[in-house]
Amino acid sequence: MKKLVISTGGGDAPGLNAVIYAVVMSAESRGWEVYGSRGGYRGLIDLDELVHLTPRMVAEITTQGGTILGSTNKGNPFEMPVKNLAGETELCDISDRIMRNFTRMGFMCHIAVGGDGSLDIARRFYMEKGMPVIGVPKTIDNDLYATQLTFGFDTAVSTATEALDKLHSTAKSHDRVMVVEVMGRDSGWIALNSGISGCADVILIPEIPFDLGYVCEKIANNDLHGKHYAIVVVAEGAKAKGSDIICKEGSCEAGRSQVMLGGIGDWVAQQIRERTEKDVRSLVLGHLQRGGSPTTFDRLLALRFGAAAVRMAEAGKFGYMAALVNGEMQDVTLEEATRQLKMVNTDDDKVHTAREIGICFGDTMP
Ligand code: F6P
Repeated sequence: MKKLVISTGGGDAPGLNAVIYAVVMSAESRGWEVYGSRGGYRGLIDLDELVHLTPRMVAEITTQGGTILGSTNKGNPFEMPVKNLAGETELCDISDRIMRNFTRMGFMCHIAVGGDGSLDIARRFYMEKGMPVIGVPKTIDNDLYATQLTFGFDTAVSTATEALDKLHSTAKSHDRVMVVEVMGRDSGWIALNSGISGCADVILIPEIPFDLGYVCEKIANNDLHGKHYAIVVVAEGAKAKGSDIICKEGSCEAGRSQVMLGGIGDWVAQQIRERTEKDVRSLVLGHLQRGGSPTTFDRLLALRFGAAAVRMAEAGKFGYMAALVNGEMQDVTLEEATRQLKMVNTDDDKVHTAREIGICFGDTMP
């Protein structure tokens, strides 16, 4: 009987469980078995962390947020943080151990569900170690280049939009400026989509460095036109012209490939406070955007990705990632998928739409 192993790596995203469900059910219909590797690659490091996933076990997970397999942000097997005898942390390459366990278990394929970091690790396993890998694109940030959309994004945008909707009434009641920091790492997709849908006045994204003078001008314009409040959406990776991104202190833990972003919302709020007469408040939506049940859209997308991954396994399409291209499931090489990130194109129709409906990006006089 053919056996697959599936892992979920990096930050969780709504829809991960739906992928697991689709993989288990599609494999079952072919008479194959599926094992889940807990904690990213942990199940392939320590076989006790492998779990045999039966249709019965996954029956009710599609609607659940998070991942029943657990995930990890610090688990790159090529550079795994391990404590040496002196208690110091060293980075060790344990990829060969993983390959031995993979072979010992007789797996025909590894379905790696992840964002750019996890998919790059999957790519290395395929190219450097010969592991038959298939990728599934996951991230609330929607920054994977080779797929139109990643699952998790729609849920995150819906959560952020709902928050903006709620902030309008409180901001209006107090004539306040509300600055809302949203996730997205180096791309502004969550800020852009939620900011337009949630009728923000200002959207600040990494792709368009901003000038606070223009932002304050927009707030003053609002006042002139009788709107005495404003909603400012700031992507966590946004930066003022000539400045750098703002990171959280102590955010470079061993084995973590990326710094933790955060703090730009407070900074923007403070700057607006100093430059205007307005009462300003800021909040960080943070991990609320990652939690909860996936939207219908994300569920469907995740189920399609899961089923496509099993079809690809059947066709022997290893070293590829399932991708949404022109609304259809297609496959792209992991190399192509991890080559670059997908950023907001300033010529994007959404950016034009936002400008036309009066949203300020802080780059020109409003
Ligand atoms: O990549 C997904 C994401 O939620 C980013 O938007 C955010 O910067 C990061 O993960 C947060 O990571 P962590 O859960 O480690 O704080």
